[in-house]
Amino acid sequence: MLASLLHTMPAFLHGLGQVLAVVVLVLQPAGSLEGQCPVPAIAHGQLKPAQNFTYGSTATLKCDAGYVPVGATTLQCLSNGRWHSRMPTCVLGRCPYPPAVDYADRSPQHTFPVGTTVTYSCRYGYTLLPNISPVTTCLENFTWSVIPKLCQRVQCPSPTILHGRETSPRKAEYTVGHQVEFQCDPTYVLRGSQRIQCSADGMWRPPVPYCDKVCGPPPKITNGQHTGLRTEQFPYGTEVKYSCVEGLSLVGDESVYCTSDDGVNLTWSGPAPECRLVRCPKPAVERARMTPQRLTFPYGAGVRFSCEEGFVLRGDAESRCLADGAWHPPLPSCQPVLCPQPQVAKGRLKSTSEVKTWYQTNATVTFECLDGYYFPEDAVTASEDSWTATCLPDGSWTPLPKCQTKEDDADVCEEVHHIRAVFECGVPTAELKTLLEIQKLFLEIKKLELELENLNK
Ligand SMILES: *[C@@H]1O[C@H](CO)[C@@H](O)[C@H](O)[C@H]1NC(C)=O
Ligand SMILES: *[C@@H]1O[C@H](CO)[C@@H](O)[C@H](O)[C@H]1NC(C)=O
Ligand SMILES: *[C@@H]1O[C@H](CO)[C@@H](O)[C@H](O)[C@H]1NC(C)=O
Ligand SMILES: *[C@@H]1O[C@H](CO)[C@@H](O)[C@H](O)[C@H]1NC(C)=O
Repeated sequence: MLASLLHTMPAFLHGLGQVLAVVVLVLQPAGSLEGQCPVPAIAHGQLKPAQNFTYGSTATLKCDAGYVPVGATTLQCLSNGRWHSRMPTCVLGRCPYPPAVDYADRSPQHTFPVGTTVTYSCRYGYTLLPNISPVTTCLENFTWSVIPKLCQRVQCPSPTILHGRETSPRKAEYTVGHQVEFQCDPTYVLRGSQRIQCSADGMWRPPVPYCDKVCGPPPKITNGQHTGLRTEQFPYGTEVKYSCVEGLSLVGDESVYCTSDDGVNLTWSGPAPECRLVRCPKPAVERARMTPQRLTFPYGAGVRFSCEEGFVLRGDAESRCLADGAWHPPLPSCQPVLCPQPQVAKGRLKSTSEVKTWYQTNATVTFECLDGYYFPEDAVTASEDSWTATCLPDGSWTPLPKCQTKEDDADVCEEVHHIRAVFECGVPTAELKTLLEIQKLFLEIKKLELELENLNK
């Protein structure tokens, strides 16, 4: 009954904490003062005056802050010691429905007793102002704590694009849902999305694109083609490869790249190559072998040369077919291998031999020793007083003779006899070995002396 009474009361009445009413109560208090009504116990409120409730006096109920009385608030102490009328109560007051706030919604509550808090949230496309609390509280005077301006419209930053422009109409401000479209200047290409939209968090989605420098179509080639036919715009670093129609040779660089000379503008790294009919004739090098063997050679083809035995290559061993049909480096030649004039110490060429600085392969020379010198006895020679040597295909001679005195031979002979004698005497092997080592050294020294003699001549 109290609850329904409360509901029917207009809200503004709730707000009046100091409403007074007179009620007469009939009470039968036990232990009360003579001729007075008892002091009633009232939660969240008290009577005024607070005591000396003599018969016939009146009192009014005052509720605590935030509380409102239910029932008549003026009471009369009857002569029978009872209060008239029914003792009222104090109940927690309420706030009206919280006020509407621009661009914000309230949390979904229905009753708002004193102390209740309500939180606002900004609607889609709006955002809470910085350092503002979106909470309001129902105060003890049944009003809501002050609610400042809470929400502002979400704005996206004005989009900027270098080397391009907005094709959609420009706006002073961009709020949620706004769309913007872009286009790049000529020779620039758009990277990213052509159309973007301002999203509820104040960001552009997808992100603002940018315009990138590009190369235009690559240089044209006649009688050929390139790999960049499908598009007109080529980003930095793009490679385009050229090729020629069947039978023609590509002269020049096979590829061009989109690059930059000045760090600003992009250009192709060079002109297109040419497609030309290029044929180099089969190279003619006498006494040479060449690989590969062909009748004609296309542009860029290489040939390797080597000479037949007895001939030596003069020039580069490899040559390439150039765009003008010539070979580069120039073709080599095969020159016969020559042997130098042979020298023999204490010997000379026989008068029948032709004296030359260089001898061709297969040329022969015949030696004889000077007077008092002889070929070694053990040497294999055609005759005792002449020695023939032949120029070999590698530029060396067959073995040349030695000319020595008879004593030279006798020395060695003596040594051999000596060794034999030592051997026959039963010298121990270890000692013999030492003797032979000495012998070897002796012979080596003799040999060196002989060579030195030859050099000094
Ligand atoms: C109570 O009320 C009577 C009559 O109004 C007065 O004479 C008396 O002084 C009061 N007593 C107190 C304690 O206020
Ligand atoms: C209610 O109380 C608050 C805080 O005490 C005060 O600022 C406000 O003015 C009061 N409202 C009314 C209507 O009395
Ligand atoms: C880039 O190209 C433009 C247009 O061709 C020209 O005006 C500009 O001077 C060039 N920039 C540089 C740094 O060469
Ligand atoms: C040298 O002689 C050999 C054998 O008679 C012959 O096969 C070779 O062709 C000759 N070389 C030259 C360069 O005349």
